[in-house]
Amino acid sequence: MIGVMFVCLGNICRSPTAHGVFESMVREAGLVQQISVTSSGTAAWHVGKPPDVRATAAALARGYQLDHLRAQQITIDDFSTNDYILVMDRSNLSHLQALAPQKYADRLRLFLDFAGTTSTSQVPDPYYGGTDGFDHVLDLIEDGARGLLAHIEQERMDRV
Ligand code: 4NP
Repeated sequence: MIGVMFVCLGNICRSPTAHGVFESMVREAGLVQQISVTSSGTAAWHVGKPPDVRATAAALARGYQLDHLRAQQITIDDFSTNDYILVMDRSNLSHLQALAPQKYADRLRLFLDFAGTTSTSQVPDPYYGGTDGFDHVLDLIEDGARGLLAHIEQERMDRV
């Protein structure tokens, strides 16, 4: 099983969106038994809460379900149990680089490193903005998720 965890600040906007989008792509690719998908936040403020209603609505408009998700805070154990810890922005990445056990440091990456067409490297925090921000987040996340799935599929082929 390949473990993928998406991480943002609150785990109610960006990382649950990536979680729902990637989960849906994994299901369509028939890889549910091969790839586990989770998400978390670096902050504990929203632990136990469902995603922000604006994120849920924007995702649903594109056919992605987020209502089954609940916010959690990343723990040290997540570094050993996930192969990919994909972070939405540099601020959360540097926070996690300081926490990560050295032997797992290379599991931490900016999620948009896997994006194909976008030239942006970070998914901006949409929390204090309008609904447009959530659509932009989805554009970036769909691009990153497609690239990530292609990368993982290639890696699996190389191993066979
Ligand atoms: P997220 O967005 O990191 O994409 O989940 C945020 C959610 C909540 C807050 C900040 C960002 N907040 O300050 O509560």
